[in-house]
Amino acid sequence: MAEDLYVIAGTKEEQYKALMPQIKALLEGEPDLIANMANMVAALKQQFNWLWVGFYIVRADELVLGPFQGPIACTRIKKGKGVCGTSWAEKKTLIVPDVEQFPGHIACSSLSRSEIVIPIIRNNEVVGVLDVDSVEYNDFDENDRTFLTELVESLVIPQTFAN
Ligand code: SME
Repeated sequence: MAEDLYVIAGTKEEQYKALMPQIKALLEGEPDLIANMANMVAALKQQFNWLWVGFYIVRADELVLGPFQGPIACTRIKKGKGVCGTSWAEKKTLIVPDVEQFPGHIACSSLSRSEIVIPIIRNNEVVGVLDVDSVEYNDFDENDRTFLTELVESLVIPQTFAN
């Protein structure tokens, strides 16, 4: 079971490099996906102190809110809507430096300025997304894409979970 998370200062890459093995250790041996998603977003929030870090899970034609850290958020997002629904529809990571410039952006919090959304893809289907929001403009870069993608790829998704 987890010890305290060791939060470090440094460049973003240095922070991720210290955090990644800790998250992997935290999830190791735990088969429950919701528990693992919950601890993953908690660790990310603790290290980076972003405004909002959380999962949306594909349920039929919608994304439904999953484990998250941050202010309350919209519970359902249709495919193709907002940054999350667009990431799902296009099956690709979206980095949005200024959310006001993204047509159809869904403002769950008026404090959000930039955002990254990473689709969780299994068997070529999106089963959910990881969404991160920041109060700073242009807060996400290729480091976030690389490390957050590695994290969502490490999640073990049971066959029965995706629908
Ligand atoms: N901004 C997202 C909605 C989710 S919240 O930010 C938590 C979007 O446009 O899809």
